[in-house]
Amino acid sequence: MAQPIAPESLQHHLTARERLESTTLLPGFQHLPGYFDAAQQAELLRQVGQVIEQAPFYRPAMPRSGKLLSVEMTNAGELGWVTDKDGGYRYQPTHPVTGAPWPAIPDMLIKLWRELAGYPHPPEACLINLYRSSSKLGSHVDADEEETRAPVISVSLGDDAVFHLGGLKRSDPKIRFVLHSGDVVVLGGEARLAYHGVDRIHPGTSPLVPGGGRINLTLRRVSRAEP
Ligand code: SIN
Ligand code: FE2
Repeated sequence: MAQPIAPESLQHHLTARERLESTTLLPGFQHLPGYFDAAQQAELLRQVGQVIEQAPFYRPAMPRSGKLLSVEMTNAGELGWVTDKDGGYRYQPTHPVTGAPWPAIPDMLIKLWRELAGYPHPPEACLINLYRSSSKLGSHVDADEEETRAPVISVSLGDDAVFHLGGLKRSDPKIRFVLHSGDVVVLGGEARLAYHGVDRIHPGTSPLVPGGGRINLTLRRVSRAEP
């Protein structure tokens, strides 16, 4: 088990890169800045736009309270991650508003999974989050998947976001760094079940997303496949 990461107070004056190198992060966490160049980001956004035409963004609600998330969501893949007041967090094969099956995961993302996942089976779900200027995502663990030997791989498009990564316990110290358009994050290995979230968006830092904001694409394997 990795040591806890360094206290935030010690990290204040470091760049994001120095911070990463100076701390003992859970093994299996990777931040790959600029993985996709500008042309690839535009192509990926085009492919995601085709998904959104079939599966429009909707506003999910928290289990029990029914409080609406500040992030809009949709999915691609055989399964999509959804949440609502009565059903809670889960995966399902259809869009909760249209009832249609989710569109296929874009080719560029399947290729990304092959390059980075180190896992022999394809992703089943691609959660697509849309953050407008005041959206955020509270600290959480991606824990609704049966298969945790596969990593979670995410791609940032559009405005910069302040991302935080903690440890396996909610109370563990967190590091914060900015994710830019084209960056990829991998939560694998011991970091697969680490707490993480998005504290805020820096509005207007990228012209990429129509209407402004940030799109995050998260690839996941849900069901266990043998071997
Ligand atoms: C997520 O944890 O589902 C999304 C993370 C992000 O937006 O970078
Ligand atoms: Fe997550």
